[in-house]
Amino acid sequence: MPGPPCPPAVRRRLAAALAFAALAGGAAACGTAASPPRATRTADTTADTTAGYPAPRRPVSDIVAPRWTDERVRDRQGEAARVFAHLALAPGMAVADIGAGDGYYVARLVPLLGDSGVIYGQDVRDDYLDLLRDRARRAGWRTVRIVLGTEDDARLPASAVDVALMIHMYHEIAQPFALLARLATSMRPGGRLAILDRDAPTDAHGTPIALLNCELRAVGYEPVSRIDMEPGEYLAVFRAPPTAPAPQDIAERLRAGRCG
Ligand SMILES: C[S@@+](CC[C@H](N)C(=O)[O-])C[C@H]1O[C@@H](n2cnc3c(N)ncnc32)[C@H](O)[C@@H]1O
Repeated sequence: MPGPPCPPAVRRRLAAALAFAALAGGAAACGTAASPPRATRTADTTADTTAGYPAPRRPVSDIVAPRWTDERVRDRQGEAARVFAHLALAPGMAVADIGAGDGYYVARLVPLLGDSGVIYGQDVRDDYLDLLRDRARRAGWRTVRIVLGTEDDARLPASAVDVALMIHMYHEIAQPFALLARLATSMRPGGRLAILDRDAPTDAHGTPIALLNCELRAVGYEPVSRIDMEPGEYLAVFRAPPTAPAPQDIAERLRAGRCG
């Protein structure tokens, strides 16, 4: 079945993503009757994930490309600048870009955080990280650490991160509860997680804001602020819990909250 029509701003982005996805052998997220069907993965809902963390009871979007859309378009819209200003990022901070892809945010974090800052460019796709490694090598970045994670573990160092970014990728995380719980152990006290996504179904490369809040609360993340970005997009900021909640506590909160 084809997906629903997309709003104009989303169509522009998806045209770019689709062009890249076609090159990469991927698939589109939503579109007209002529476009490919929505491509989704369904997490294993019949069994718990490793270490007993619950799986999401909703579709998960396919990974289709190492970037959201054209970097010049994003800069014209002031995307990264607005995100950084809202988060009050400053030199010396440690920022993790989870799902960094080929590094749109990493490239803009390097000059902002300066020589005393640290940027973790993290992803689950080593071929996408190769693009980031190549970019880092050509630019001579010294403050960037490349991290290959798994679907259920970002594999960042313990107590190392002031701010974690998840930009246009939350809907692609196949095991969000395990990943978020383990991420809490990588955050410094008071560390924040900032999620930018479309307010759209998870099988159409977005995450409805109510679903996002419900899932994050289930893992103990507290909402801090939210701003609108481009039409139909939000940036939502959460405070990470001081310790990783136990899998059974997450499952209990999910039962009570009925996310999705
Ligand atoms: C649409 S791209 C966005 C890339 C970049 N954040 C940007 O804004 O251009 C989504 C990225 O998230 C990555 N991703 C998907 N699931 C992930 C997970 N569980 N952990 C880390 N990265 C993930 C994909 O491999 C891909 O690079």
